[in-house]
Order: sequence, then C-alpha cells, then structure tokens
Amino acid sequence: MRKLDEIRSDLTRCDSEIIDLLKKRLDYVREAIEYKREMGLPILSGDEKEMSKELLLEEMTDSAYQGELLEIFKQIKEQSKCVESKVLFPYNISLIGFMGAGKSTVSNYLKETLAMNEIDVDSMIVKSEQMEIKDIFEKYGEEYFRNCESNAIISLKDCSQTIISCGGGAVVREENVKNLKKTSRIVLLKASPESTLERVKNSDERPILNGNMNVEFIKELMEKRARLYQNAADIIIDTDNKTIPQVCEELIGKLLKLK
Ligand code: S3P
Repeated sequence: MRKLDEIRSDLTRCDSEIIDLLKKRLDYVREAIEYKREMGLPILSGDEKEMSKELLLEEMTDSAYQGELLEIFKQIKEQSKCVESKVLFPYNISLIGFMGAGKSTVSNYLKETLAMNEIDVDSMIVKSEQMEIKDIFEKYGEEYFRNCESNAIISLKDCSQTIISCGGGAVVREENVKNLKKTSRIVLLKASPESTLERVKNSDERPILNGNMNVEFIKELMEKRARLYQNAADIIIDTDNKTIPQVCEELIGKLLKLK
C-alpha cells in the first residue's frame, strides 16, 4: 500500500493541474463570448461546438464516478455562464413596467440563462415587513408601501450581477429611478392593456387593481405612468405575442447594443 503522504502529494498535484485547466477553460469561455458579442451572434442559443451532455456521458462511461463527474461538470457550466455574464453585462439589469408586464417571469428566465443573481423588490418588502403587499396597503396605506419600496431600492446599492425586478409603481418616485440607474441598465417591459388584464385578472395580490380589474382602469393608469416608464428606460421591449425566450433574446440583443 502507498504511503499517505505520497497519495496526498499526488492529490495536491492533481488539484493544481485542475486549476490550470479550469483557468484555461474559463479563458476560452471568455474568448468565445467576446467573439459572439463582436460578431453579433445570438447569445442565448447553446454552443453546439461545446461537448454535449451525451458526449460527456460517453467520455465517462468507464468511470465509477460518472454521477460525481456529471455534478462537477454542471458546476463548471454554471460558472462558465457567470464568466460570460460578467463579460456581457458588467452591471445590474433592472426590470420595470406595469403590473403583469412579465417582470418576474423574464427575471427568472434571465437568472437561469445568464446565471446572474435575482432580486424581487416586492418580495424584499414582504420579507422585511412580514406581510403580504395587499395587507401592507390595507393596514398602512400606499405612502407607507412606497417608503418601503424606496428603502428596498436604496439597500440594493452594493448589488452586482443582479436582475432586479421592480414593482410596477417603482417609477412614480424619481429618486427610485435615480438610485436604480447608479448600478443598473433599466429595461422597460411593455404590454397592451388587454394582455395586461389577461395576465392579472385571476390574482387579488395587486391592491391597486382590486376592484378595478378592467381594461379602462388599466389603460388610464398605464397612460398616467407612460412618460415615467419611458424616461426611466434604457431599452424598451414589447412583450405582446412573444414567448419569454423571444423577449429575453431581444432584451439581451438591445442591451448589448447600448454604449
Ligand atoms: C404596484 C405593482 C405591484 C406592487 C404593488 C404596487 C403598482 O408590483 O409593487 O402592488 O403600483 O404598480 P407588480 O408590478 O410586480 O405587480
């Protein structure tokens, strides 16, 4: 049997080889994403040239550690996405837009595909107040809720690589937009009053819409806020009749074109 010291020194050597290889791999990932950006190639479509799961499995068939190796590779892929996102988006992405515009769904999809962090401002408030939004409105009123919202946004000043999903009314206070702009590019998601109603009509979680669940009210409030949304936005995406992947591909394309 080999001496433990000898085995340990082999392990150390292995670790340092792995680190060297991983550094090399991440450099290639960076190079590939910079190439895609330069050439204007789609960012979200999978990299066909990279080893697919099937090929990886084939490479590992003889190994007693297939399960472990697959887990390690999952992590490698995930961390590769983080490197890509840092290259492409060295800022936060703040999503604004009327209720039902799809901010949470888009945020979730972006978080998965770009391996960025995700924060939902409404959820922060629910957590800190230990109360649902509609209960905060009912018990303390809208002004109190808006103060919570502004404080939550201020508290995000040190976030990085984060998708920030804002409540639909975040733009009504100029200071919120100013604070978001310090670290974020702001993306406005738009939807027509009709599709907004379709998306929100079965929920009673939005106090502003409770008792006002109709196209006329939505249209009027949308119009009242339209200029605020418009002025805050770095880019604007229409979500009507588009799938979430289409919205996200367009969003990424437009962000990459920003200076
Ligand atoms: C609001 C939108 C809601 C929530 C609150 C007020 C608004 O967020 O912040 O009910 O004034 O538009 P969502 O846009 O995520 O529904």
